[in-house]
Amino acid sequence: MENIFDFDSVGISEDNSKVIILDQTLLPGKEKFIEINTLPELTEAIVNLRVRGAPAIGVAAALGIAVILKGSKNNNISDLTAELEEISEQLINSRPTAVNLKWAIDKIKAKFFESVRVSDGNITRIIESTIEEARNIKNADIAMSIKIARNGLTLLKPGMSILTHCNAGHLAVSRFGTALAPIYLGNSEGYDFKVFADETRPLLQGARLTAYELHKAGIDVTLICDNMASLVMAQKKIDVIMVGCDRIAANGDVANKIGTSALAVLARHYKIPFYVLGPGSTIDMQTATGDKIIIEERPEYEITDLWYAHKMAPEGVKVYNPAFDITPASLITAIITDKGIFRYPFDFSI
Ligand code: MRU
Repeated sequence: MENIFDFDSVGISEDNSKVIILDQTLLPGKEKFIEINTLPELTEAIVNLRVRGAPAIGVAAALGIAVILKGSKNNNISDLTAELEEISEQLINSRPTAVNLKWAIDKIKAKFFESVRVSDGNITRIIESTIEEARNIKNADIAMSIKIARNGLTLLKPGMSILTHCNAGHLAVSRFGTALAPIYLGNSEGYDFKVFADETRPLLQGARLTAYELHKAGIDVTLICDNMASLVMAQKKIDVIMVGCDRIAANGDVANKIGTSALAVLARHYKIPFYVLGPGSTIDMQTATGDKIIIEERPEYEITDLWYAHKMAPEGVKVYNPAFDITPASLITAIITDKGIFRYPFDFSI
């Protein structure tokens, strides 16, 4: 593909029979799209990060549920409802930290039940409105990304150098992403930003995905290992840090890719603004503080084996692989959403 914006990482076929996903596990080496129309395929793609990034997971789940219901053999409402509940349960547990997954599933379920009430048991109509809702979720994602880009850009100046972690760009969200959104918008307006991308151990979303999409978009990107961030900040190479988020607690504590909180601690030390960017749907008012957020733990081999020709740790050694961490609200300069910019102490009710 020539241009990064020529494709979306998640989409749906014209006849609504398949979800189409750019397999992110194969990037940057191979740009391959896969088609999904069953629950095992969808769950596998989410668990194994073929589709990843909080908003993209939500969109994939919404489109996936609609496609699975369309292909369902259940032809009465009670069986179809039972199937929907089973799909939802399995998907919500597939990646527990990002709230966007639950948010999207809840929206699809609400639409399904609303159309059951108003459609006199017409299954075709119920399924059509579920598909429409899933398509709306995807389109809303695009609009959200553009608003975040505009809001974020108001805090940036031309020529700034920005450090980012993991991948919160086009691959993680339709259109501009979240953390990378102001960078794409700014560069299209001549801001000439420079970006430092953490490689993001252990799954290398920074090296494989952020470096891939920014480089492909012609943006000046420099890759560093996670443990180089402090030196790069001390050398005054970073003006601002911008990261995405998987869940924002009501008090402003933020769950994001493991390593994010370390950057926030460093940012405070070096007096560098630390911005979190995400959709309003990532704010979870049901979760009071970050310590209540479930942190996904992933398999040992991602640390010991995945990128190596042979195992890089002694057989049988204990491994701990949490996928996310919590950045305390007090270390965050501002949370930039499609609904506006919030500053510490955070009050999202306004
Ligand atoms: O495990 P991943 O790759 O899904 O983790 C992704 C992140 O942590 C992103 O920063 C977050 O989901 C925001 S994406 C706009």
